[in-house]
Amino acid sequence: MGLNMPRKWHSLLFILLHLALLPYCPCLVSESTGFSLKLIRRDFPHSHPFHQKLISRLRSISKIKETKSTYHFPDTIRPRITRSSFIFTIDAGIGTPTTKKTFIFDPGSELTWTQCTPCINCFKQNYPLFDPRKSTSYRKLSLNHTSARYFRRSNNSDFIYYLVYGSGESSSGIVSVETFSFPSDRKVHESIKGVVFGCANNQKGQFRSSVTGIMGMSRSPLSLIGQMSSKSRHRFSYCLPPINSHIKTTLLRFGSDVKGRDLRKTSFLNHIDYNYRVHLLDISIAGHRLNLPTGTFPTGCMLDIGCGVSYIETRAYNEVVRVLMMHLNRFNLTRITAGSLTEGELCYRLRWGFSNYPNMTFHFQGANFEIGPQNLFHVTKDRFCLAMLGRDNVTILGAFQQQNVRFIYDNGYQKLLFAKEDCSQDKA
Ligand SMILES: *[C@@H]1O[C@H](CO)[C@@H](O)[C@H](O)[C@H]1NC(C)=O
Ligand SMILES: *[C@@H]1O[C@H](CO)[C@@H](O)[C@H](O)[C@H]1NC(C)=O
Ligand SMILES: *[C@@H]1O[C@H](CO)[C@@H](O)[C@H](O)[C@H]1NC(C)=O
Ligand SMILES: *[C@@H]1O[C@H](CO)[C@@H](O)[C@H](O)[C@H]1NC(C)=O
Ligand SMILES: *[C@@H]1O[C@H](CO)[C@@H](O)[C@H](O)[C@H]1NC(C)=O
Repeated sequence: MGLNMPRKWHSLLFILLHLALLPYCPCLVSESTGFSLKLIRRDFPHSHPFHQKLISRLRSISKIKETKSTYHFPDTIRPRITRSSFIFTIDAGIGTPTTKKTFIFDPGSELTWTQCTPCINCFKQNYPLFDPRKSTSYRKLSLNHTSARYFRRSNNSDFIYYLVYGSGESSSGIVSVETFSFPSDRKVHESIKGVVFGCANNQKGQFRSSVTGIMGMSRSPLSLIGQMSSKSRHRFSYCLPPINSHIKTTLLRFGSDVKGRDLRKTSFLNHIDYNYRVHLLDISIAGHRLNLPTGTFPTGCMLDIGCGVSYIETRAYNEVVRVLMMHLNRFNLTRITAGSLTEGELCYRLRWGFSNYPNMTFHFQGANFEIGPQNLFHVTKDRFCLAMLGRDNVTILGAFQQQNVRFIYDNGYQKLLFAKEDCSQDKA
């Protein structure tokens, strides 16, 4: 399945972009202008960046007949919930009194959801299901809520959502409003009142029991960052420690807690969808430009820590592989065919003392993104492989290429800022 958006997407997006300009209420109770959360990397047995499935994104297709609204919530997510992969999670409390939940951190998705009781179909999770009846701050989304227009109603008048994952997983439930609280590095709980989220009561497919749902952090006004307005200043930031590092927890920073030095800056492509995409103009290898034709990356390069490795549009990828081979063939290395289908296509046997690894540059509009050898090749005990794969019409900057880089997602100014950084200094 490709990542192409169905045609209908465009007209729908048009409406949503207009809605995105509407002000939404600053719902925060605390006075501070910044805070940080723990971003935790979870490893699973046989964790390997190449084994991370790329899951295509699908528009949600509600099976429940429309009643009043003329369109439905267009959420598009792919889970990071694949076997033998690593995912990034965030702990949050919801409700009053608060109950702890663990969410997959997903900058690619919109509505946040967690499993609720009563449940028709819930995957096994390590925490009890969220019970709305035990929370004094829980409400179902009301008809006059500003977000109501994004959703359709079931015949018993609840607003409902229905999300489909490309690999077959799905989640649906009742759109609701709750207080979310986060442990911050200041040892206080930061509370956000009135967060619109999905009370999930019908999930299908494989999910991990270590999580209770997904936290959406896309450019959509319905994502958590979209609903956090003033305190977050519409920006968040993370810096991923190397994947082989023992440091698994880092900070997800918001608002005035976002800091960085020597930052490079490029704009988000904002006419396609709510994903974080930037203009990719060309690629260089070992200082030489590939001179890819204009229009090679019509949908830009998407940032996605849910992908273990990066994906490059097929024609550009073939060129990347050709030039890398030209470079590496000078050093009498033995090319080996990848053991499994999911392994990178370009692998060589490790040779003792070899150090002439090339580097790569993604030329984003106005900002070069340097990919040093450590972020380019996945080295195992006997081989090294290019940690990038080819894919039709898709270019994604995955987690492997994001190691030791500070990323700042500034949704207010619609900019991505980044700089090399030792991310182990930002451990939580
Ligand atoms: C509609 O909004 C008003 C004020 O914003 C509120 O008092 C009222 O309870 C809302 N109606 C419903 C049905 O929630
Ligand atoms: C909607 O109405 C149908 C038929 O009246 C009923 O079978 C179904 O349970 C209702 N669905 C919901 C979500 O209330
Ligand atoms: C990348 O490699 C080229 C050629 O070896 C070198 O000139 C350049 O300085 C390198 N860039 C970085 C950022 O290390
Ligand atoms: C290349 O490597 C092979 C074995 O790996 C070796 O026999 C040969 O002498 C090497 N050639 C050069 C030019 O280093
Ligand atoms: C990729 O895009 C081209 C041009 O838009 C289109 O013709 C082709 O069918 C697409 N390929 C896939 C696999 O979606």
